[in-house]
Amino acid sequence: MMMDKARSILKEYFGYDNFRKGQEEIIQHLLDGENVVGIMPTGGGKSICYQVPAMMFPGLTIVISPLISLIKDHVDTLTEVGIPATYINSTLHSNEVQERVYDIKNGHYKLLYLAPERLEADYFIEILKEVTISFIAVDEAHCISQWGHDFRPSYAKIGFMINKLSDKPIVAALTATATPKVHEDICQLLNIPWENTIKTGFARDNLSFSIIKGQDKGKFLESFLKKNKEESGIIYAATRQEVEKLHDRLLKKGYSVSKYHGGMSDGQREAEQQAFIKDDVSIMIATNAFGMGIDKSNIRYVIHYQLPKNMEGYYQEAGRAGRDGLPSKCILLYSAQDIRIQRFLIDQTINDPDKQKQDIDKLQSMINFCHTEDCLQEYILHYFGDEHAEKCGQCSNCTDERTIIDVTVDAQKVLSCMIRMGERFGKTMIAQVLTGSKNKKLIDFQLDRIKTYGLMKEKSAKEISDFIEFLISEQYIDVSTGAMPILKVSNKGKDVLLGKTTVERKEQVVTVKVSENNTLFEYLRKIRKQLAEAENVPPFVVFSDQTLRIISITMPVTHEEFREIKGIGDHKLQKYGDTMIEHIVKFKNDQHNLSELEDSENKESRTIKEKRSKKSVENSHLVTLDLWKKGLAMKEIAKQRELNLQTIENHLLRCGEEQLEVDWTKFIKPEDQVKVVKAIEKVGMDKLKPLKEELPEEISYFMIKVAIMLEKRGQQILN
Ligand SMILES: Nc1ncnc2c1ncn2[C@@H]1O[C@H](COP(=O)(O)OP(=O)(O)OP(=O)(O)O)[C@@H](O)[C@H]1O
Ligand SMILES: [Mg+2]
Ligand SMILES: [Zn+2]
Repeated sequence: MMMDKARSILKEYFGYDNFRKGQEEIIQHLLDGENVVGIMPTGGGKSICYQVPAMMFPGLTIVISPLISLIKDHVDTLTEVGIPATYINSTLHSNEVQERVYDIKNGHYKLLYLAPERLEADYFIEILKEVTISFIAVDEAHCISQWGHDFRPSYAKIGFMINKLSDKPIVAALTATATPKVHEDICQLLNIPWENTIKTGFARDNLSFSIIKGQDKGKFLESFLKKNKEESGIIYAATRQEVEKLHDRLLKKGYSVSKYHGGMSDGQREAEQQAFIKDDVSIMIATNAFGMGIDKSNIRYVIHYQLPKNMEGYYQEAGRAGRDGLPSKCILLYSAQDIRIQRFLIDQTINDPDKQKQDIDKLQSMINFCHTEDCLQEYILHYFGDEHAEKCGQCSNCTDERTIIDVTVDAQKVLSCMIRMGERFGKTMIAQVLTGSKNKKLIDFQLDRIKTYGLMKEKSAKEISDFIEFLISEQYIDVSTGAMPILKVSNKGKDVLLGKTTVERKEQVVTVKVSENNTLFEYLRKIRKQLAEAENVPPFVVFSDQTLRIISITMPVTHEEFREIKGIGDHKLQKYGDTMIEHIVKFKNDQHNLSELEDSENKESRTIKEKRSKKSVENSHLVTLDLWKKGLAMKEIAKQRELNLQTIENHLLRCGEEQLEVDWTKFIKPEDQVKVVKAIEKVGMDKLKPLKEELPEEISYFMIKVAIMLEKRGQQILN
């Protein structure tokens, strides 16, 4: 019964149909009057766990939250959905505080957010004693423990306050990180029975992890950014200098960037952060100082430009992508040289030898993560003690379909050249010798006389440099520490020279678009920005990207249709429904006029149509189908449409799902289809990688996908 009420609140205010895993259980405990600890990953939906019950309890709910900016965002979000909430903190004038206290006493609010420092003031607790407080939610509850990574002494006052209150309120503690010690502290200090703990898995299904190795980082980054210009993302770099450097470079190239690191003034940092949160700029370049208390939900990617120092930091930072649940990317650009930066930081800043050893071990786990060939998500979950982890099917290891090239001979050329040069030089000099450069320094050292001089002159110095970078990342070459890194052939490299092992290299990874937005989405995104500016809140508070995406696909034009959309509650319908519908109708009319124009004019219109359909998600697959039927090869279609091959393949698969006529025998022979079906019977069809492993080499991922699609349709291809 009570749960039905909770669900209707979820729908009415937040516009969601169902609770997520864990949410329902936590709320059930609270409604039964029990204290509870909720452990859910970043973006897992902890806020709802106390915001919904807050609407059901008779009295006030107090939320303790550690950061002022976070509190402000939460209160904005609640106000936007029509829930009466407010906060009291040090940014307010004393008369503002008085006013709010007055309103609280008169029952104007359901939720009151407080920073923990408030509880230090005894007079404030006296005030609270005069209010009926039903429920206390402690957000980011790990701050209560000295063992946590964000210990806040004032959190200790929470237990004290609870005891002071006349009616004992129910208590909920929520956090994304709880090692056993922290968990114990939370239970003990807040008087929560250990068994009242609800813990959901740590996996974030909408995140796909990638590691890029042996590739030019700068080039990769720019190619990625070019394809994802409109999207919000964070780039993490290891040092302040690196942040500044990247920031300058991208700014000069015309990207919309902000920056954040410990060397900037408070005011500067705040301004840059706000610009990012409000979508005034799309890219944030920062050290790990950035991110605590950032609830921005529409971050589509997080790129680590350098190796982070441990998995804890890495997962927390990467986890800031995709809070809204839409597919998002976490990319780590690995270069073996970056290990030196992290080693240097450990050696320089830590005196305690035990701590130093611990940090070095953690760094090693981070490096191992970069070298594993297993599922990346699985590695992360194992690291955090989740034994039931399964292959994700979407990380760069699970989906690796690149062909492997044997580069043993080239590797031998490079390594033997290094030996002949006496293993005394860096990357640039080695590359110059191999290309046969006339560089003065090189001539001075008489390196033009050695046997390998000009041995690879058909390649550019840049190509060879990249190749050396690859050999370093695969540990065929060791890099010395120091200001001028010197390269030496490793033991693994010596085996290559002796012909004991071969060297294989994969094709370079190409960048892709994180999300293909349709034209209406791009249009409505601008409208959202205007609405947000008028309300002085961040755009994602008005509508999440996910909500906007659904609107742009379903194109609702009535109140009923609009209300059906995930993320639209009664309040949002009232507030924004008419405006949005107006814009959708206008867009539809414009489109209609455009297609009429196309019908009347012939040749010219076709280009408009093609241009339009490339962008519009709805029709894109049909354009691909059209070209395919005209006899173009898949690769040609990809090239002509400037999309990657996988996208084109997905287009055809979608045509298949929509039962459109495609001659599938062109992709998979009936006997191969039978093989896939047999494999499916054995390992299921939820994950691709196990299937691929089960099948002969020559059956590609695409063939498997085709077979699965046909299997789902229950169709045998005919010969
Ligand atoms: N039942 C639900 N259905 C759909 N979306 C939901 C649901 N519950 C929460 N969300 C959405 O999930 C997103 C993340 O929620 P929230 O900010 O509460 O995460 P969190 O667990 O507090 O993360 P963090 O640890 O980073 O604070 C929000 O955009 C929220 O609206
Ligand atoms: Mg939260
Ligand atoms: Zn995986």
